[in-house]
Amino acid sequence: MGTGRIAIPTALAGAHVIGVDSSAGMLEVCARRAQEAGVAERLDLRLGDLRRPPVDERVPLVTCPFRSYLHLRDDEERLEALGAARDLLRPAGRLVFDVFTPSREDIEETQGRWIEREPGIDERADWDLAAQTLTLSVRGSQGSSTMTLWWVEPQRWHTLLAEAGFEVLACYGWFDRRPFAGGEDSVWIALRK
Ligand SMILES: C[S@@+](CC[C@H](N)C(=O)[O-])C[C@H]1O[C@@H](n2cnc3c(N)ncnc32)[C@H](O)[C@@H]1O
Repeated sequence: MGTGRIAIPTALAGAHVIGVDSSAGMLEVCARRAQEAGVAERLDLRLGDLRRPPVDERVPLVTCPFRSYLHLRDDEERLEALGAARDLLRPAGRLVFDVFTPSREDIEETQGRWIEREPGIDERADWDLAAQTLTLSVRGSQGSSTMTLWWVEPQRWHTLLAEAGFEVLACYGWFDRRPFAGGEDSVWIALRK
């Protein structure tokens, strides 16, 4: 969910969106932005965990954009989240998400360095190759924050999706649907079997 970066354009396109996030702050920002965009009535925001989403409805599409599954720390949590997405879907429904697997070059280039990502906002990446974690620190004029993300290889996502009851329809290398060719980003479309 986050601040509605994807959910608000989706609602603007006419869809009814149920948005789940474990951060009340994110939902607050999203609610304000939805109001401003005139789509508040099409956006149903719910505080909860994506592994146990507070959603009884069954839907044709579940999306989990911008690497949100990287907040899951191990296969048990990943399978919980994928299983929960599967349970939300109607038969033949689809799960669409993107994840990230860092390249050696990216790790070497950014390791432990503060980099200005946007004007006035610095970001620092501390990679742990053995644990496959990225500790991301962000600082700006309004404060600072640190979070940890956990990555796995695309092949692992493929296996987990199959274990959770999905058939992988596509794995793209970017949002323009170019085929995945071993890059850092992968965009998945999976069908509830
Ligand atoms: C990288 S942001 C992506 C936000 C949005 N999907 C987007 O594309 O802009 C990840 C979001 O996931 C939320 N989050 C992290 N762990 C979560 C969990 N276990 N359950 C629900 N939301 C979670 C965070 O609060 C954050 O808003």
